[in-house]
Parts: sequence; C-alpha cells; structure tokens
Amino acid sequence: MRTQYYTAASLDGFLATEDHSLEWLFPLVDIQDTSLPEFMQGVGALAMGSSTYEWMLRHVVNAPGGGAPWPYAQPTWVFSSRQLPAVPGADIRFVRGDVRPVHQAMQAAVQGTGKNIWLVGGGELVGQFYDAGLLDDIIVQVGSVTLGSGHPLLPRRIAQPRRLELTAVKRFGPGMAELRYEVLREGAPGAERA
Ligand SMILES: NC(=O)c1ccc[n+]([C@@H]2O[C@H](COP(=O)([O-])OP(=O)(O)OC[C@H]3O[C@@H](n4cnc5c(N)ncnc54)[C@H](OP(=O)(O)O)[C@@H]3O)[C@@H](O)[C@H]2O)c1
Repeated sequence: MRTQYYTAASLDGFLATEDHSLEWLFPLVDIQDTSLPEFMQGVGALAMGSSTYEWMLRHVVNAPGGGAPWPYAQPTWVFSSRQLPAVPGADIRFVRGDVRPVHQAMQAAVQGTGKNIWLVGGGELVGQFYDAGLLDDIIVQVGSVTLGSGHPLLPRRIAQPRRLELTAVKRFGPGMAELRYEVLREGAPGAERA
C-alpha cells in the first residue's frame, strides 16, 4: 500500500491558474493516452482539498449542460473547514485538521485490497502528508506550458540530497513528460538526514 501524489503540473510547477482553471492542461494530451487509466486500477481511496472538490462539482457533477455522476467508486476524503455540499450516492467523507488520523482511516479502507491511496491535491494538502512522513510517491505529468502563477504543485522545500529518488521518466504525446519519484524516508538507505 503506497500513498501517491499523482497529478499534472505546468513546467513552472503549477496545478491550476489562480482562478482554478485547468484549461491549459486538456489540449496537451488525451487523458486516456496517459498512465491515468492504469493508475486508477490501483487506487483504493482518494483524498483531496476543498478547491479540488469544488472544481469537480463545477466541472463534472454540476457541469453546465448536464452533469455527470461522481466518477470515483472508491471512498474519497475531502478536507475542508467549511460545510460543503455532498454528492448523492457518492462515498465522500468530509474531514478537517490533522492528516494523520485521516490517513489511518484511509489505510484501514484499503487494507487487504492491494490498492493504494491517491492524494489528488492540491499541493498544500499533499505537503501536509509529506510533513507527517506519509507520502511515498510523486507521479507528475509535466506539461509543456508555463503559467507564471497559480496553485503550486508542492509548496515545500525538499532539498536534502537524494530525498527524492527519480525512478522513471516517460513521454506522453508531444506535450507531456511523466516523472516518477519515490520519497525516501529519513534514515532510508541513500536518504541524507534532514
Ligand atoms: N493539474 C492537476 O492535475 C490538478 C490536480 C489536483 C488539483 N488541481 C487543481 O488545482 C487547484 C488546487 O487548489 P488548492 O491549491 O486551493 O488546493 P486544494 O487542496 O484543492 O484546496 C485547498 C483548501 O482545502 C482546505 N484544506 C486543506 N487542508 C486542510 C486541512 N488539513 N483541514 C481542513 N481543510 C483543509 C482549505 O480550504 P477550506 O477549509 O476553506 O475548505 C484549503 O484552502 C484546484 O483548482 C484543483 O482543481 C489540478
């Protein structure tokens, strides 16, 4: 069971523009031609912050011209300090505060299934999992655009030598490069102490 941050980011490290647009991303690649379909087969539980959840409500569930069902059958934990609308029939659990007990609950949900935990984002929430020593992998598809500003991929300083081990590089279409990193824990072979 691994806890994985799987996402796409611009070349200058942003998930979305300041106004939460992902319009930069979709022209770059057909999502079905990326590693996402295979990745999803290994996902047993998801976590996301409220901006990401609200993006899903606006652009998927309540999309103009007719919404689509909530796309995930797996349980999804949504972090927010606010009261957010639920999606009828979807297994969505609203939580706040410390990520550690939530991660324990997610682990319990996937235990024995051989599946992983997907941290959908955004970056600050994933940073909280990193701070708690709970992040195993970063899988990022880097798009051939720069945004100049926006919501950052991972607003943390991870600068210790070999804390991030690059394990794979792959190209998707003309505009995407996927980088896979393992986050080496403090004291792991090869990881320098912070
Ligand atoms: N490029 C991609 O593939 C990709 C992937 C994921 C997301 N995105 C997009 O990137 C943007 C990310 O937005 P974002 O940076 O604002 O991140 P976010 O994580 O989606 O939302 C951040 C918000 O979540 C809530 N939150 C976070 N941690 C919390 C905690 N421990 N307890 C309680 N609440 C907590 C807070 O809001 P409240 O307490 O006010 O609710 C916080 O402001 C979104 O537009 C999303 O759609 C893109």
